[in-house]
Amino acid sequence: MAIRPIVKWGEGVLHTPSAIVPAVTDEIRTLLDDMNDTMIAAPGIGLAAPQIGVGLRVIVINLTVGEDPKQLIELVNPEYISREGEVKEEEGCLSIPGYAGSPVRPRFVRVKGLGRDGVERVYEGEGLLARAFCHEIDHIDGKLFVDRLTPLKRDLMVRKLRKRAKANDWDDSPS
Ligand code: NI
Repeated sequence: MAIRPIVKWGEGVLHTPSAIVPAVTDEIRTLLDDMNDTMIAAPGIGLAAPQIGVGLRVIVINLTVGEDPKQLIELVNPEYISREGEVKEEEGCLSIPGYAGSPVRPRFVRVKGLGRDGVERVYEGEGLLARAFCHEIDHIDGKLFVDRLTPLKRDLMVRKLRKRAKANDWDDSPS
């Protein structure tokens, strides 16, 4: 188990669709452990493998930020079964520290994928959990919340993020 560095906006792995995991092996279970540790340390409520530089379709979510380990959701090769409704709420991303945006997301999702035992799981999520599933699945599709903003807001934010990425400076408060 290890806390891994979180990759920031502008790194190729975040902007490229991740590969399907062919089999849930011990390496994938170690990846899941590292992702959970990294998410809790950040702290955050979700993390996708490309955020630690691994281009594989693996996500973790825990709305309690590890407070209740039983609420940890681990999914390999997650995909949507259904999506319903629309809601616009503010969200952030560990790969874009200090920035937030309000993309339109489904109100409700049903998602399936493989657990750490390789057995299929189905989850339903509403509200924040639905948003977390969509945010993390976006990550493995190479999309960030910025990519879902209106063109005007996206262009404005991208200009700021380019400066940050170029300077590799994500520490001070955003400008
Ligand atoms: Ni994110």
